[in-house]
Amino acid sequence: MTGRVFAVASGKGGVGKTTTAVNLAAVMAEADRSVVLVDYDLGMANVGAVLDVEPAEATLHDVLAGDADALDAVAEAPGEFDAMVGGTDIEDFGRADPSKLREVAEDLREEYDVTIVDTGGGLSHDTTVPLGLADDVLLVSTPQVAALENTAKTLDLVERVGGDVEGLILTRVGGAAVDVDEAVERVDAPLLGTIPEDGAVADSEAAGEPLVVYAPENPAAQSYRELGYELLGESPPVSFRDGDEDGEVSAGAAFAEVADEQAEADNESLLSRLTGGRLG
Ligand SMILES: Nc1ncnc2c1ncn2[C@@H]1O[C@H](COP(=O)(O)OP(=O)(O)OP(=O)(O)O)[C@@H](O)[C@H]1O
Ligand SMILES: [Mg+2]
Repeated sequence: MTGRVFAVASGKGGVGKTTTAVNLAAVMAEADRSVVLVDYDLGMANVGAVLDVEPAEATLHDVLAGDADALDAVAEAPGEFDAMVGGTDIEDFGRADPSKLREVAEDLREEYDVTIVDTGGGLSHDTTVPLGLADDVLLVSTPQVAALENTAKTLDLVERVGGDVEGLILTRVGGAAVDVDEAVERVDAPLLGTIPEDGAVADSEAAGEPLVVYAPENPAAQSYRELGYELLGESPPVSFRDGDEDGEVSAGAAFAEVADEQAEADNESLLSRLTGGRLG
């Protein structure tokens, strides 16, 4: 088996890379893929700061220092996927050899259907390693002009290090009116999806869970679900937006009603699995 490796990158910090990486990992796990999320920000904890990851035998820094095997640094994260996080000591930083990430990715490819590498900010040699080795680089940007201009530069950089950009994900869309088409014109990459501004993202981080697990019906969760399935070349499950028992019936629920009983039963079990039984 050879799995697929995604890298999540941006031109500007704080635009939603880690949120995207965490939620895509959870959605692809929902879609029955084995998934590992790698927190490749060697200076700063990202994934570990927003997700309650069990401690593993080793850290990514140990692995990059040649002191541990990749699989020793993998631990369970909430959301049915695995995560590999870095150490938090300042000494860890000096020990890690970024170029070893390539071997780590190859090891993970053998073991998992999907590897998602969350990257840090800055444009040093360290940060470009995942961009060159990934099968698909996912560029993340907010719709602001400055962020998009930096994203366009990052796209050039990915091409220069021999990476493949899959497309652009616009995050935190909302508030002030945003012309998505105009935003996308600034970056010469296909638009993969837009994620709305959603206050529950911060709540899910405080709870240490991916948003798609914490609040599966929320707007940003729905958008991440659509995006995640699309990246896998599949249709997302029937939407359960507004689909609670005594609430209004959504288009998805109406569809389920006209479908035959077996399909309905399948839907319900899928719904139940997606929401951990919270809805179905
Ligand atoms: N769709 C969203 N709606 C509301 N808030 C969001 C959304 N996505 C991300 N955020 C918030 O934006 C902030 C930055 O998000 P995140 O940590 O994912 O960005 P990042 O690109 O990984 O940042 P860094 O470059 O520092 O690693 C966080 O406080 C997060 O809660
Ligand atoms: Mg981050």
